[in-house]
Amino acid sequence: MSTVFNFTFVPWFRSVAPYIHKFRNQTFVVAVCGEAIAAGKLPHLAQDLAMIQSMGVKVVLVHGFRPQVNEQLRAKGHEAKYSHGMRITDEVALDCAQEAAGQLRYEIEAAFSQGLPNTPMAGSTIRVISGNFITARPVGIVDGVDFQHSGLVRKVDVAGISRTLDFGAMVLISPFGFSPTGEAFNLTMEEVATSVSIALQADKLIFVTEIPGIRLKPDEPVSEDNPIDTELPLAAAEALLIKVPAGQRPSDTAFYLQHCVKACKAGVERSHIIPFAVDGALLLEIYVHDGIGTMVVDEKLEELREATADDVGGILQLIEPFEQDGTLVKRSRTEIERDADHYTIVEHDGVIFACAALYPYPEAKTAEMAALTVSPQSQGQGDGEKILKRIEQRARAAGLQSIFVLTTRTMHWFIKRGFVQVDPDWLPDARKRKYNWDRKSQVLVKKLG
Ligand SMILES: CC(C)(COP(=O)(O)OP(=O)(O)OC[C@H]1O[C@@H](n2cnc3c(N)ncnc32)[C@H](O)[C@@H]1OP(=O)(O)O)[C@@H](O)C(=O)NCCC(=O)NCCS
Repeated sequence: MSTVFNFTFVPWFRSVAPYIHKFRNQTFVVAVCGEAIAAGKLPHLAQDLAMIQSMGVKVVLVHGFRPQVNEQLRAKGHEAKYSHGMRITDEVALDCAQEAAGQLRYEIEAAFSQGLPNTPMAGSTIRVISGNFITARPVGIVDGVDFQHSGLVRKVDVAGISRTLDFGAMVLISPFGFSPTGEAFNLTMEEVATSVSIALQADKLIFVTEIPGIRLKPDEPVSEDNPIDTELPLAAAEALLIKVPAGQRPSDTAFYLQHCVKACKAGVERSHIIPFAVDGALLLEIYVHDGIGTMVVDEKLEELREATADDVGGILQLIEPFEQDGTLVKRSRTEIERDADHYTIVEHDGVIFACAALYPYPEAKTAEMAALTVSPQSQGQGDGEKILKRIEQRARAAGLQSIFVLTTRTMHWFIKRGFVQVDPDWLPDARKRKYNWDRKSQVLVKKLG
């Protein structure tokens, strides 16, 4: 084995370890659109889900079946009918949906039963259990349109799903529900997955979709300057939903986003939209720091906010010990008072636990992140990361292309989070003039994707 392999594999594997520890015993609801299965992605998705489950995650898999039902309808010479972004399920469509769901369940169970030597599924024993976990009610007649056998989720059998998960099985749910009179209703995969995640108070809801995620500027065309927004705070996602048209088709910005927001508001802290087109998208989203799609995250707003003049005392108290030991450059009270609105803070019960300031250099399309500090008693809990993300968002919103830091001791923390070292000569002229050559701080830059 080459030593180069050792040097790449071992650090890579170790970098994944914290996520493995963190997610053990957590519950993920993974919603896979029917298009992913139609595109032949099931074998790899099953391999990745099997691996995620074997690392201690409780997985509920919800599958969609839009293209499969439409194909059955076409074969029967029928046309798919939609209204309000939802299928109108007449008798023929209900038949087609039942056939499609049966076929898909069979294919999914078969995919999880693979175990050939030299494949990622070798040695895996995944039990897939599906059942009548969803009680449904009819959509009824909306604006004069009779939705017939299309339904909405009325109740989720939380105890039944939880028992099945505790028993070590993966729960598979089709977008079907039954009324107490035994009538079957065709549901949407998105609604089922969202309702199940809320009812279980899952740790994650993940939509594996035909879209790559939500772009930074959702109404502008795809381009290098308009990448995927990897982390959308709940408040920003809600604001975006108000701006964009209602989600009727999967390609509409609001289509999956509305469900992510609903889940987040109801206590599912993180919901994700990821593309099935990228092989291993689930692994990349779950086990890599920045992920690949969009994550809507419910960060408590009262905790993370921009500072005001009233916070200056708290900021000084927080950074003082680090100024004294030389980790941070000394700043006077007057300077912090003057720049209070440059600071972002994490506050809890009136105490400031973390802060950082953003100083833009618009002429160079960059900004300095300064005075990043997390109080010693709450270090290692992700507050540093939370502040960094917010600072990145502030810089992006200001139209800047990068942020930079000057550091003498914390280089590795920044490198792990996508910063690269550059020569001090890189600094914008105005900052270079203030650079303290004796302190020999390292300059690290992060490009804002
Ligand atoms: C650097 C700092 C802001 C990180 O904040 P935090 O909330 O603890 O960070 P997170 O919880 O997001 O990340 C914690 C991880 O960073 C690592 N870390 C902390 N300080 C580090 C350092 N100086 N160098 C490298 N890694 C560091 C922790 O070991 C932990 O690693 P793990 O996830 O592998 O266990 C915080 O440690 C701090 O305030 N340090 C003192 C002030 C400082 O150095 N500021 C930077 C000035 S340029």
